[in-house]
Amino acid sequence: MTANARLATVAAIFAVISFPGIVSSQSSDDETSAPEYSRKGADSCLACHDDQKVLSVFQTAHAVPGDANSPFGHGQLQCEACHGPGGDHAGRVRRGQERPPVPAFSSMSSASVADQNGNCIACHSGDQGFAWHASGHDSNSVSCAGCHTVHADNDPVLATSTQVEVCFDCHQQQRTQSMKPYAHPIRQGKMECASCHSPHGETTDLLLARQTLNDTCYDCHAEMRGPYLWEHAPVSEDCSNCHEPHGSSQPGMLSMRAPLLCQGCHSQDGHPSLPQDDSGLASGVPSQYLLGQSCLNCHSEVHGSNHPSGSKLMR
Ligand code: HEC
Ligand code: HEC
Ligand code: HEC
Ligand code: HEC
Ligand code: HEC
Ligand code: HEC
Ligand code: HEC
Ligand code: HEC
Ligand code: HEC
Ligand code: HEC
Repeated sequence: MTANARLATVAAIFAVISFPGIVSSQSSDDETSAPEYSRKGADSCLACHDDQKVLSVFQTAHAVPGDANSPFGHGQLQCEACHGPGGDHAGRVRRGQERPPVPAFSSMSSASVADQNGNCIACHSGDQGFAWHASGHDSNSVSCAGCHTVHADNDPVLATSTQVEVCFDCHQQQRTQSMKPYAHPIRQGKMECASCHSPHGETTDLLLARQTLNDTCYDCHAEMRGPYLWEHAPVSEDCSNCHEPHGSSQPGMLSMRAPLLCQGCHSQDGHPSLPQDDSGLASGVPSQYLLGQSCLNCHSEVHGSNHPSGSKLMR
């Protein structure tokens, strides 16, 4: 028996087990306009679609006959639980006529993305952390299938090492940033986009995983949370005042180098905080205050200080 044939047999068994449910869920008051489900569940589809890619769905979490909530569980609609009613599509087509498409996840279908996603949401809306309708992905008509590959032994978006490629498909800017010399270890497969983002949407801005941007960072950088005796206001306000979370050309993933970074907010009044060049200096050498680590030479505790005399963030 070939692998294909074995899978087809397994599929057929699922179909037989679950078939009665399909018949009952088929009944409809409005027989004329209601879309028809196929008569034999998965078997009707597998008669034509028996390639390895389609059959691989039987190796996933979706093909658990013992789970009443699974598409292939007892009483469920099997293929059509996701694809929608495919009776017309699976039926006879007159010569010269086009085969009507199944409603969902078909390049031939004209159904709206929201309607297509509705088939998945019907089973998944109760999942923890699922706030799809509040998300920028929903309002921009991104399909569940835009990220999830259902017909595959392993869905790439669910694994850390493969997830980012799925996201990069649409988010080129973040791909570019992650290639910069200073970045979170995303390219190395040690972190994923979902380390900081909730792809299904949260009630937060920009799909961040936690209530605020800083809380998202504190998940891993707990030492930055404080509390500090001497806080540095822009730190407790928003880490992205100084850092580029997706990657930067500056060491420490900073958006700019010091002193420019600091001078974006701090005036030069009464303080040696000129840019790092020798213009205007009699000696013709750069100011000693601004060499190397620049402002950080003295103000090293830029995230906050717990030293009694650390009010100027110097210790
Ligand atoms: C009589 C044969 C037949 C049956 C039965 C059948 N299909 Fe199809 N299906 C086709 C053909 C032909 C296409 C067009 C394929 C193509 O153009 O590559 C197609 C296309 C599709 C597509 C779209 C593929 C794409 O590239 O967008 C999906 C999804 C699909 N079928 C699902 C189903 C489901 C679910 C069932 C069972 C309810 C089913 N089919 C039953 C013949 C069939
Ligand atoms: C008939 C109900 C049903 C439908 C429809 C359905 N799912 Fe599922 N899904 C399940 C069940 C049951 C599981 C396995 C149990 C669990 O993980 O909660 C599951 C698991 C998953 C998982 C986790 C897989 C894993 O390997 O852990 C993903 C991702 C998923 N579904 C996405 C989808 C998408 C995308 C769609 C629409 C194309 C969809 N589901 C349609 C019931 C359904
Ligand atoms: C922007 C990409 C993206 C889209 C669009 C998307 N998902 Fe997901 N989904 C993911 C990622 C990433 C995970 C892994 C979650 C994690 O690591 O926190 C996931 C996990 C899941 C899971 C596993 C259970 C869980 O909550 O962890 C289910 C079920 C699921 N998605 C269903 C759906 C459904 C249904 C849709 C459409 C309404 C959808 N997803 C749309 C990226 C996406
Ligand atoms: C859990 C939901 C779900 C179930 C169950 C499911 N599909 Fe799909 N199907 C999808 C999604 C989503 C896609 C889009 C491509 C992908 O995710 O792999 C798809 C794609 C397809 C395609 C197009 C494949 C291609 O080459 O692009 C066909 C044909 C198809 N499904 C047939 C079936 C058949 C037949 C069954 C039942 C044996 C079935 N599907 C069960 C969700 C599902
Ligand atoms: C099929 C294309 C597509 C894929 C794949 C995709 N996205 Fe998106 N994403 C979009 C679109 C479209 C928007 C809205 C426009 C924008 O902000 O670029 C968006 C917006 C976002 C936003 C900003 C949300 C907001 O409220 O403005 C984040 C964060 C995001 N995506 C993260 C992810 C992550 C993480 C993944 C991978 C798990 C991913 N996206 C995969 C298309 C996609
Ligand atoms: C270390 C945490 C972190 C990781 C990992 C991360 N992001 Fe973000 N992302 C953020 C923060 C914080 C913001 C909002 C502030 C900003 O853009 O500076 C954001 C914003 C975004 C936006 C919206 C940009 C805009 O300006 O509208 C998109 C899209 C996005 N991220 C996609 C991704 C993708 C794709 C990945 C995976 C490659 C990813 N992010 C990984 C923290 C992260
Ligand atoms: C899932 C865990 C995680 C989250 C969440 C996270 N980081 Fe990181 N961060 C890391 C890891 C891992 C490193 C790399 C440490 C190393 O290379 O030694 C890192 C390194 C850094 C670095 C130092 C880079 C360097 O070159 O030294 C900065 C700055 C940084 N993260 C800022 C942030 C900000 C800002 C956020 C929130 C938007 C954030 N991180 C969220 C895990 C995380
Ligand atoms: C006022 C600008 C500024 C803000 C805001 C800021 N940082 Fe930094 N951060 C820096 C500078 C400058 C460095 C480089 C320090 C050095 O080279 O000694 C740095 C370095 C880091 C590093 C790597 C080196 C280390 O000390 O471990 C991490 C991680 C980091 N910051 C996380 C964060 C987090 C998380 C937040 C938000 C809570 C944040 N930063 C807010 C300026 C800032
Ligand atoms: C986004 C704006 C911003 C950036 C960038 C910034 N700061 Fe600040 N800084 C502030 C604010 C606001 C305060 C609080 C001022 C106050 O309380 O009067 C502050 C306070 C300070 C103080 C303590 C001043 C006092 O009188 O107590 C020092 C020292 C300082 N910053 C140094 C730095 C250094 C060094 C950098 C660059 C690594 C930097 N800052 C970057 C906004 C910023
Ligand atoms: C050689 C050490 C040194 C360097 C380099 C340095 N500072 Fe300072 N800074 C100090 C000292 C000492 C004070 C305290 C002055 C006082 O208490 O009157 C101070 C005070 C401050 C204050 C508090 C307000 C004020 O003017 O008294 C700010 C803001 C500040 N520095 C920002 C910066 C910035 C931005 C840079 C880089 C452009 C920088 N400093 C470089 C030593 C330094």
